[in-house]
Amino acid sequence: MSSFSLQDKTILITGASSGIGRSCSVECSNNGAAALILIARNEEELQKTVMMLAPATKVETIIADITHCENLEELIAEKVDIVGKISGFIHCAGIEKTLPLKKHTPQLYNDIFAVNVISGFEIAKILSLKKYKNEKSSFVFISSVAGMVGEIGKTAYSASKGAVVSGARSLAMELSRSNIRVNSVSPAMVNTPILEKMFDNIGEEASQEILKKHPLGIGEPEDVANACVFLLSDAAKWVTGSNLVIDGGYSAQ
Ligand SMILES: NC(=O)c1ccc[n+]([C@@H]2O[C@H](COP(=O)([O-])OP(=O)(O)OC[C@H]3O[C@@H](n4cnc5c(N)ncnc54)[C@H](OP(=O)(O)O)[C@@H]3O)[C@@H](O)[C@H]2O)c1
Repeated sequence: MSSFSLQDKTILITGASSGIGRSCSVECSNNGAAALILIARNEEELQKTVMMLAPATKVETIIADITHCENLEELIAEKVDIVGKISGFIHCAGIEKTLPLKKHTPQLYNDIFAVNVISGFEIAKILSLKKYKNEKSSFVFISSVAGMVGEIGKTAYSASKGAVVSGARSLAMELSRSNIRVNSVSPAMVNTPILEKMFDNIGEEASQEILKKHPLGIGEPEDVANACVFLLSDAAKWVTGSNLVIDGGYSAQ
């Protein structure tokens, strides 16, 4: 078996109803994952992801708002009983808002941090418990180049993505004793609904400026998903506490 294979692994993915999370689900399945537990709010869109998976992959879904779900541990426990203990987690659920500072409010920071940061680390807390985790596990948090490079209108979003990288690094230290590796992935612009919404919001001229800053053009969801598959696989068994930048050269300038 290739060390890049996800054979025998059960992987939980948030944000699986769209964009990068959907692509992560498909690529985990294509790379031999035994089972997937997929989480999102939109049942219809999540079902579309399920239809894209290889028939051999067992799949369970959880329809939930991860920011308002008091029984999330119970729901995850039920699914673990069915498909087995977890050996991988990708936190893809995220929201993005591009707004001038004068439009930033405490509520905006709260909303963005609730999905992008707190929910991911709370799920990691559940998945680090012995009763749910396999002997070895790997957690991947989707951050963004916005966590490293300044962008106008992104104060709250960038702050949340910086928090993802630094939180994941500390989690890597804390969970190494439990045989859990923790890493983040920082993409630049990727062709997904979140990007379409942002381009609608900032207008044609600003969108073109952003596109010009990507030497290899904007990315496709599978460019990010492939990096996640690597980090989940045993090929990355010595990789923890790192932030893998997948940005078509955006931050190299
Ligand atoms: N696309 C880019 O250019 C880009 C670049 C850098 C980083 N990222 C990051 O990559 C991640 C995925 O982005 P994407 O482009 O794939 O976005 P997307 O297509 O808009 O997908 C976002 C996903 O998050 C889920 N989600 C949002 N709020 C949720 C909540 N409260 N509870 C449960 N699920 C929730 C959505 O599912 P439901 O609506 O069904 O709940 C959806 O599946 C995000 O963290 C984003 O910040 C994206």
